[in-house]
Amino acid sequence: MSELLNEDRKTLILTGASRGIGHAAVKRFSSAGWRVITCSRHGFPEDCPWEMGPEDHIQIDLSDPDNVEEGIKEMRERLKAQGSRLDALVNNAAISPKGADGGRLPAMGTDIADWKTVFQVNFFAPIMLARGLVEELKKATGSVVNVTSIAGSSVHPFAGAAYSTSKAALASLTREMAADFGPLGIRVNSISPGEIDTSILSPGTENMIKDIPMRRLGQPEEVAKAIYFLCTDQSSYVTGAELHINGGQHV
Ligand SMILES: NC(=O)c1ccc[n+]([C@@H]2O[C@H](COP(=O)([O-])OP(=O)(O)OC[C@H]3O[C@@H](n4cnc5c(N)ncnc54)[C@H](OP(=O)(O)O)[C@@H]3O)[C@@H](O)[C@H]2O)c1
Repeated sequence: MSELLNEDRKTLILTGASRGIGHAAVKRFSSAGWRVITCSRHGFPEDCPWEMGPEDHIQIDLSDPDNVEEGIKEMRERLKAQGSRLDALVNNAAISPKGADGGRLPAMGTDIADWKTVFQVNFFAPIMLARGLVEELKKATGSVVNVTSIAGSSVHPFAGAAYSTSKAALASLTREMAADFGPLGIRVNSISPGEIDTSILSPGTENMIKDIPMRRLGQPEEVAKAIYFLCTDQSSYVTGAELHINGGQHV
């Protein structure tokens, strides 16, 4: 009986859960009864107030492709308890390197090796995970959410060229994936946050508030709600969309 109930429980795999938007998303899905398998470079944060314990946390460095492949094997193994079904994959983890002074890293000042690392974490890891977990997603008619950024569509005062181009590529990948995964019953969307109050923000972001129509930063919980919407039946005919969560900053 408990086995059956376990199979009925929805499961999310989410990258970058240790803080910020990912952390808020874990709490949103957990509170709705989902099992959440998390991964990030660090071990399970012991001070973390979500129900799933260290047994559902996988330590992976997404900048290392071999490590990503090992992580996928581990995820597939853990999903067996849920009948090898995966209801949602949220590609949230990302890196946004800054210059020595904490400022924006321009196209000419970005080392190519660093640029490739940014693309591995922000762009290649999401497609590696989605491809590696496609059978489980198919079985659950699941959905994928890629976390892009407002910096992917125009030059941003603090986001570097490598970060911004990786997010533009991820937005395009969302479109391609929606076309290719759709026939399998898997929806693929992205959410594009603006200035959300997390540790990724640079000093000086407060000066941008006057230009945001809603005149405030967003909260991680407000992004988590939108991710949840895209992973549930409420958005059952939505695929290939990019949802702007930025208080109107993009207008
Ligand atoms: N905050 C904003 O205003 C904003 C705006 C636009 C877009 N976004 C996007 O929203 C997402 C979340 O942003 P956030 O502000 O919540 O970021 P954050 O606070 O910096 O958190 C990033 C998460 O990614 C994980 N991570 C980083 N590098 C990793 C790696 N190599 N391997 C595995 N995990 C890794 C981190 O965990 P570990 O350190 O343990 O690895 C952490 O959990 C990102 O995709 C970001 O680009 C944020």
